[in-house]
Amino acid sequence: MAKNVVIVGSQWGDEGKGKIVDILTEYTDIVVRFQGGNNAGHTVIVDGEEIILHLIPSGILHAGKTCVIGNGVVVDPHVLLEEIKMLKEKGFFRDQDLLVSKDAHLIMPYHKKLDMAKERLRGDRRIGTTGRGIGPAYEDKVSRFGIKLSDLMNEEDFRAKLKVNLIDKNHYIRNILREEGFEMHQIYNDYMEYAEKIGPYITDTSLFLNEAIKDKKSILFEGAQGTLLDVDHGTYPYVTSSNTVAGEAATGSGVGPTRIDTVVGVTKAYTTRVGGGPFPTELDEKMENALRDLGKEYGATTGRPRRCGWFDAVAARYSVRINGIDELVLTKLDVLDNLNEINICTAYKYKGQILKTFPTEASVLEKCEPVYETVIGWKKTISGARTLDDLPPKAQGYVKKLEEATGVEINILSVGAERKETIIKKNPFA
Ligand code: IMP
Repeated sequence: MAKNVVIVGSQWGDEGKGKIVDILTEYTDIVVRFQGGNNAGHTVIVDGEEIILHLIPSGILHAGKTCVIGNGVVVDPHVLLEEIKMLKEKGFFRDQDLLVSKDAHLIMPYHKKLDMAKERLRGDRRIGTTGRGIGPAYEDKVSRFGIKLSDLMNEEDFRAKLKVNLIDKNHYIRNILREEGFEMHQIYNDYMEYAEKIGPYITDTSLFLNEAIKDKKSILFEGAQGTLLDVDHGTYPYVTSSNTVAGEAATGSGVGPTRIDTVVGVTKAYTTRVGGGPFPTELDEKMENALRDLGKEYGATTGRPRRCGWFDAVAARYSVRINGIDELVLTKLDVLDNLNEINICTAYKYKGQILKTFPTEASVLEKCEPVYETVIGWKKTISGARTLDDLPPKAQGYVKKLEEATGVEINILSVGAERKETIIKKNPFA
């Protein structure tokens, strides 16, 4: 039976969704990105080769699967064309496999400049954005100044909308920021060139997806970033500018929520975060450096070292609630192979009280102290495990404890970066 499955990150992003989407693509017909932009970095290892995708769904690595960039995504056309070029060079791209929503909004050169300028203005309270113009592009969408991909296909509309935007943006950039503004002709010429190249992929993707559902095709909705970076439900203001939760799969692709069958949350066996904001289980410097090296925890988009911490079950339970997660995927379990002891945060201590639910207020969260349960490490290499029984008993015990702490079954486990280094207990498309 055809199933439609949403995959979301249940932490602060970088949970290893790229590999899981890549594996599950085999069981679906269509893969859809529904939010975010090229702030995402989805790493997939194919035959020892690392491929990092920022915009195109990770499903593109499988021939014959349709990959859709939905209306909820913000698209930097230059990045999209570079990604297509990279994939073509590696032999992974066929023109007929990519569709881009006519209703997705464009990232413009001034969005990138404004992203960086606003970060400078924030000083110590900067968010640590990826600098890709994501926030300002979504600001324009909501304030109704945005330029859509459909506008790119209509020269007159594009010119008129760009003109209005440049009056507004250049005023701010030149008179408030006292920096160099943008010239109309330069942007116009560049974007008309993009229009020619991207035009063939642009279509009504909501119509396409709904027709596909009628035809009993399966869809995998590929979330980017993670639940705790959601603009409504995350640790605001230290969040990204889109809704990263499962509900957005509907809004960001133009498919009704009644068409979604299952929500899968992806979580790492520990926690990481890039950029600013509270992080209760963050490790001390020595242990953080060690875990970062073991897990190769450097940003796939910016190369920034990721902050590292223990598994946070309070945050995980919150993600389960906000997304309606039916089942979990546990990634990077092998990174913990050599540790003597592993901590699981089961509650927070805040002003002398025990908190079992996740406070999203940054001012509260930064004062929460983790309450840990400690388990003994398994001290064995597990990357060869292909079933749960292949795991050492102590590793099985750790997985069980995470299931108990989150209240959700873990159905897929990743024990290495390669496709084959995976334990599939139950396939969400089954
Ligand atoms: P922006 O999305 O570039 O505006 O950045 C806002 C916050 O989200 C920053 O803390 C970024 O580090 C974080 N962020 C954005 N995209 C990702 C991602 O794909 N993985 C992890 N963190 C991300």
